[in-house]
Formats: sequence, structure tokens, C-alpha cells
Amino acid sequence: MSKIAVIGSNMVDLITYIDRMPAQGETLEAPGFALGCGGKGANQAVAAAKLGADVLMLTKVGDDMFADNTLANFQRFGIDTRYVQRVPGVSSGVAPIFVQADSHNSILIVKGANAHLVPADLDAAEQALRECSLIVLQLEINVETVYHAIEFGREHNIPVLLNPAPALSGLSREHLAHLDFLVPNESELALITGQVVDSPESAHNAALKLVASGIRHVIVTLGQQGALYVGEEGEFQIPGLSVAARDTTGAGDAFIGCFIHHWSRDRDIRAAMTQAVAYSACSVTGLGTQTSYPDATAFAEFQRRLDA
Ligand code: RIB
Repeated sequence: MSKIAVIGSNMVDLITYIDRMPAQGETLEAPGFALGCGGKGANQAVAAAKLGADVLMLTKVGDDMFADNTLANFQRFGIDTRYVQRVPGVSSGVAPIFVQADSHNSILIVKGANAHLVPADLDAAEQALRECSLIVLQLEINVETVYHAIEFGREHNIPVLLNPAPALSGLSREHLAHLDFLVPNESELALITGQVVDSPESAHNAALKLVASGIRHVIVTLGQQGALYVGEEGEFQIPGLSVAARDTTGAGDAFIGCFIHHWSRDRDIRAAMTQAVAYSACSVTGLGTQTSYPDATAFAEFQRRLDA
């Protein structure tokens, strides 16, 4: 089986379920709280691993009580943690998250140890990375490390997928042009292209611009409207699924985790996107981030219920 390398963040999610955000100076009671393993990189790695993928994780944890739990969590899902390092004197990444009753969320991130993942860490893992058939990146680590990984993939002929989240302005067009896959949501796509993206049509136009710049495959996640593909294989949209959403946190990561698992296995983009739209829809019916990601058995059961 081919191995997937996820080079990215891990966070401790501090999820507060709220009726509304407090005003400045106001203290407000909230109905619930959950502590969970998160971070966009870790979420994508765990989603893929839960579905059966063989995953290598490159990330850094802090010098605190969260680090052991994060490592144990990766290991629980069979993720290769040989290159997960601890950073002395630095906190782990944390993400205070506020989820409203309508399922939508607001997230703060403190990168902590994630900011210490540097290009030299990739070089130290060169042999293990060369055995991987896909490199997966996000933007919760140092952007120079992301660029280094893109160039590493290019040099060694390993496909690279970037999820440009959280949205970051001023990304290097030269590096982006070397990507095999770019998987933004609408706001990330708008920031990268400088175009207004507020509908599948405008997302299509913006994606075309990126494909013209050299990116082979652009996949835009559209929330309830599914996902859009523009690239070497043409143009198509996978429609969204209507589900009762409870918590949308980490739905984009669920999409990517499922997509990378299926694409690495079968190299069929349309089929992988179809699975990923369904997996992401399933994830929003549960609470939390990784806790809402089904394993292969639970996901098959969710799909059977959809078809019934
Ligand atoms: O995409 C959701 C994730 O964003 C959360 O798990 C949080 O940790 C932040 O990284």
C-alpha cells in the first residue's frame, strides 16, 4: 500500500458550544465544552488513517501535558510518528473554538510548537518521505517549510497537495504553480486569486485562473454545495448532501483526509471527491473534529443509510 506523508500541524482543540459570542466585558454561560485532538494536519492524517490509509506524520508537539496525548492519539490510529518531535520550552499548538447552535464555528489558533517545524526537519526525514506517494500540506506551519515540501515533492516526483488553510495572503505564485493539487474553500480561493468568489460560477472562474498558472488540479470545497473540480481532467461538480449538521468544525479536513485516502489508492479524482463529499457530510452530523470522523465501517453504514 502506498504511504501518505502529512506535513503539518497538530492542535489541542478547546471547543466551547455557545448560544452566542459574549460582548466585550460580558461574562456569559455556555452550554457545553469538549477537549479534543485537532489541527488541520493532524485531522487530515487521522481521517485518512481511520479509513485505512498508511500515514506518515511530520509535526512538532510542545513541552507540556498535551504532547503525550497527541502522540498517543496518532499511534492509536496507526500513524507513523517517527518524525513527530517535541520542542523544549514551547507550548503545544492550541485552538480555542466556538461552535454556535446553528453548527457554525469560529476558531483561534496558537501555533506553538507547530511554528518550529522547519525545512531541515524535512531533510532529516528525507528517506521516509521518499517512500511516500503523496505529500499533503496546510498553512498552520511556517510557510517556508511548506515551500520546501513543495520543492521536495517536485524534485523527487512525489505529487503534492496543498490545502491553503487557514487563508494566508501573499503566497508565492512560483511555488503554487508546482502543485499537483490545490484544495481551497471559497474564501481561501478568493484570497489567493484576488477575485470575488461567492458562487460555484465565480469559484469556477477563479479556479481556471489557477490552472492556467500551472496547478494541475484545483478542487474547491463548497460546503453544502459539494465540491468543484477544474484541471487536467476537465471540469465537474460533485453535488453536496443534505444532512442535519451539528458541528461543522473540521469538515474541510474530513474532505481532504478522505480524498487523499481514495486518490492514493485508486488515482480516480472524481470517485475520490464523491467519497470525500459524503465523508465530510457525515462528519458534520457529529460533534468535535477528529471525534466526528467515522472509520471505514461507520462510513459505509452512513452511506447505506443515505442510499436507503
Ligand atoms: O480545521 C479545523 C481545525 O482548525 C481545528 O481542529 C483547529 O485545531 C484548527 O486547526
